[in-house]
Amino acid sequence: MSKDYLLLPQVKKDLKIVEEELAKVVAADGVKLAESSLTTLRAGGKRLRPILVLLTGMTNNYDLSCLIPAATAIELVHTASLIHDDVLDEADTRRGFPTVNAAWDAETAISTGDYLFGIAFEVLSKLGNSDIVKVMADAVLALSVGELHQMRTCHSLNQTIDDYLTKIKNKTALLFSAACLVGATLSGASEIEVEALGKYGENLGMAFQIYDDVLDISGDEEILGKPIGIDLKDGMVTMPIFFALEETPQSKYLQKVVENVNSTEEDIKKAINIIESTSAIERTKNEAKRFIESALETIDLIAEGEVKKGLRSIGEFVVDRYH
Ligand code: IPE
Ligand code: IPE
Ligand code: MG
Ligand code: MG
Repeated sequence: MSKDYLLLPQVKKDLKIVEEELAKVVAADGVKLAESSLTTLRAGGKRLRPILVLLTGMTNNYDLSCLIPAATAIELVHTASLIHDDVLDEADTRRGFPTVNAAWDAETAISTGDYLFGIAFEVLSKLGNSDIVKVMADAVLALSVGELHQMRTCHSLNQTIDDYLTKIKNKTALLFSAACLVGATLSGASEIEVEALGKYGENLGMAFQIYDDVLDISGDEEILGKPIGIDLKDGMVTMPIFFALEETPQSKYLQKVVENVNSTEEDIKKAINIIESTSAIERTKNEAKRFIESALETIDLIAEGEVKKGLRSIGEFVVDRYH
């Protein structure tokens, strides 16, 4: 069974305010793009990044008046990045619904993502805190660098596991880190606590993407709400694919699938079976767990209490989930 994570009643309650804010700010201008934005937002999602803002926002003083806009902005940034990512990956489902590029077209998806990035920074700017804006802007920059790097290296076997780790740090881990930095900073946590929580977020984000790459091979499309095997189809050399390439006598076939820009459904199915016949999935899950251990080590200095309990529980969920 997939673990559920422990969500403090306070966070659960305040997440509802974030949901209302998301709908409100997106629809505010009455712009046509609001429709495509709202479809993706309403489809749900785990809301992990705003949860992290709210939770780390309890480290010291819990000030909802700034945490709500920050949590809203980070979910907008994340959703924008997903809408753009689905254009890059040519994915046709997301959160159990057709992607914006599938339901409308790539042009609409690009504009919708830009629209959401714009609103996110408008919401953030109302905080009047340039340090927070900078943390978020840096995370968006890293995200685009990671996505570009990934695009430039797809279908190539000429890359190392370190290249992979750099890509996932940029495209995913630094936004998780930003969520924790922003929450901790807004709560008035000490510099050393802010730094520790930022590192927690980064390690959690690394584990999160590594596990997402496992789910792309061994997950269930219905539960995931997005296509599986798409990393292989797009020629991405993710951690489980690296390990499988190292291990299997059939690695020549796998290599061909990675390099092939026109792999068929059959090719992908066969490649997934080959990967599953190795210990690649298990090894990859262990690597993700190591990042969770590092994440938890970095918060040793945070006082025992509800925040720490919540952060531990999210760590456990990230490496034991089906969606
Ligand atoms: C998907 O993120 C993109 C990755 C970084 C792997 P999530 O898995 O958090 O997506 P939602 O928000 O729950 O849909
Ligand atoms: C994460 O990578 C994408 C972003 C950081 C936007 P993936 O391409 O693996 O994410 P999914 O699997 O589409 O959600
Ligand atoms: Mg994708
Ligand atoms: Mg993925």
